[in-house]
Amino acid sequence: MFSWDRLARPVIGLAPMADLTDSPFCRTVKDISKPVIFREMISAEAVVRGNERTRKMAAFHNDERPIIQQIFGGDPAVLAEAARIIEELHAPDGFDINMGCPAPKLTSNFNGASLMRRPERAMDIVRAVKRATGRPVSVKTRLGWTDPRDIMEFAPALEQAGVDLISIHGRTKEQGFSGTADWEMIGRAKSLVSVPVLGNGDVTDTGQALDRLRSSGCDGLLIGRGALGNPWIFRELEAVLRGEAASPPSWRERLVLIRRHAHRHVEHYGDERSVITFRKHLVWYFKGFPGAKRHRTRLMSVSGLAELDGLLDEIGADR
Ligand SMILES: Cc1cc2nc3c(=O)[nH]c(=O)nc-3n(C[C@H](O)[C@H](O)[C@H](O)COP(=O)(O)O)c2cc1C
Repeated sequence: MFSWDRLARPVIGLAPMADLTDSPFCRTVKDISKPVIFREMISAEAVVRGNERTRKMAAFHNDERPIIQQIFGGDPAVLAEAARIIEELHAPDGFDINMGCPAPKLTSNFNGASLMRRPERAMDIVRAVKRATGRPVSVKTRLGWTDPRDIMEFAPALEQAGVDLISIHGRTKEQGFSGTADWEMIGRAKSLVSVPVLGNGDVTDTGQALDRLRSSGCDGLLIGRGALGNPWIFRELEAVLRGEAASPPSWRERLVLIRRHAHRHVEHYGDERSVITFRKHLVWYFKGFPGAKRHRTRLMSVSGLAELDGLLDEIGADR
């Protein structure tokens, strides 16, 4: 059975990102490295209501393990029931509760980041989900609503409620994604609790990752945007942590992986036109690609898998 305490330190994880950390992307990350996967958030209410699309979003392939399913909601009983249902349907290794999302669609319903303003409710949620599942229950949160010092009280409250791990994105809700993540504050929160803490925010290379781990004293970190178009970041970090040199992928290797990711994406979403929702990944993958400008317009208008394959062949032949 998966347990946060038994994982080797530092723990390296893929941060949950809605519409991005889906099964095709997570599998692709896992082909080349072994981070813990935090799967994108799903609505607890939709799971309990029986929404098939939402329930399917929690499906995964075995090679994605360890995988933590994130859920969001504001009602302890609904979140608990959602965890029970997902455990029965898919058996992920753990559950994570979203207490950091700043989107009004969540905060106006007293969930996501607004739970930081209702610590009693947040604690009830942790207790209820813990009772409903035998799996570890973690929380992902931010430093605060407007005041980054909120976390000094919020993290100990979560620990008191029995949470198994806390991930902290070093910004307040008010900041959204502006400014820079405050890792010093993450480190201060870490020192107040004995449950493991994963720091998060703005890590885009291995040097930064090592720096942040060292300075914050965190048990590990989550990487989100830094992995978009660059799933190799985990492989490089794993190498550096073993004391080896980080070897970036060749363009040949990149093209092979992009093709595999695209095929999985189309297979997963079920029709050729889903290549259109893959375009965002293409933008990230080809950022900085020498000569990419020449292909950009065609990459951005690609609408079928055969067309994309042909384009990747052409780009490969160019290199
Ligand atoms: C497009 C996008 C979607 C996100 N979706 C989620 C989500 O579903 N759940 C969550 O807890 N955080 C979500 N986040 C926040 C990330 O997990 C992470 O905390 C944030 O991006 C900071 O880390 P980074 O600088 O490594 O990206 C999302 C971020 C982005 C950019």
